[in-house]
Amino acid sequence: MLSEKWISAVLLLHLCCTGSGSCGKVLVWPCDMSHWLNLKIILENLTDRGHEVTVLVSPDSLIIDYSKPSTLNFEVIPIPQDGDFTTNILNDFLDLATNVMPTMSRWQSARKMQEFLLQLTGHLKLLCESVVYNESIMKKLRETNYDVMVIDPVVHCGELIAELLEVPFVYTLRFFMGGTVEKYCGKLPAPPSYVPVVMGGLTDRMTFLERVKNVMLSLFFDFWLEPYDIQLWDQFYSEALGKRLCFPF
Ligand SMILES: *[C@@H]1O[C@H](CO)[C@@H](O)[C@H](O)[C@H]1NC(C)=O
Ligand SMILES: *[C@@H]1O[C@H](CO)[C@@H](O)[C@H](O)[C@H]1NC(C)=O
Repeated sequence: MLSEKWISAVLLLHLCCTGSGSCGKVLVWPCDMSHWLNLKIILENLTDRGHEVTVLVSPDSLIIDYSKPSTLNFEVIPIPQDGDFTTNILNDFLDLATNVMPTMSRWQSARKMQEFLLQLTGHLKLLCESVVYNESIMKKLRETNYDVMVIDPVVHCGELIAELLEVPFVYTLRFFMGGTVEKYCGKLPAPPSYVPVVMGGLTDRMTFLERVKNVMLSLFFDFWLEPYDIQLWDQFYSEALGKRLCFPF
């Protein structure tokens, strides 16, 4: 009896997902570049299974090509023009990653990366404002009744939108500097004497001295490096929600 019930439940789930319209609706807050390459495959797999996936995308995104035909729906965020921002960012990033960072020590290159990320704060804030303070977009998102949001926490705002829409969310992440988001938000165990710190350049086979270096790098990322302007985002989230909310990390 029990197994029959199971079979009918599984059959129902299948029918539900092969029929049109009765599947899950997924809203995505992505991150550009390599992060998007990872996420895109997962999202396309979701649409293969009949789920409806909508990606909120910045009009000046670098590799999220929303103009090509795709099984994903794209909702382009109406952000005021930022001039040559995108081209400059791409050039700066490529220069940093290929010419500058490889010549530096791990500490220095992490610091450089931090400076680069902090430079993006104004643009990312504008992007976020263009969604959460645009009533017509928020109304449309609310009326679509999404079941879940998939969020890349490297770009802020995803969890704020989820909170405003009252939709549960799942984080997806390729990696974060020093693995701090994985460790503290994702609760991924990362004892520094065994797990190599992201961007530390070490592998899982470390000598004793490398393990010591890994522990130092781990402390460096945890306590000295703040890749975000946390105060700014904390205040921004609290204002948008109309209540005090601790910034997620
Ligand atoms: C997901 O999509 C990729 C590429 O389209 C495909 O190779 C893979 O088999 C799919 N995975 C699942 C679990 O459907
Ligand atoms: C709000 O979004 C709509 C598109 O949904 C856009 O047409 C409009 O210009 C946006 N408003 C502002 C103030 O950016």
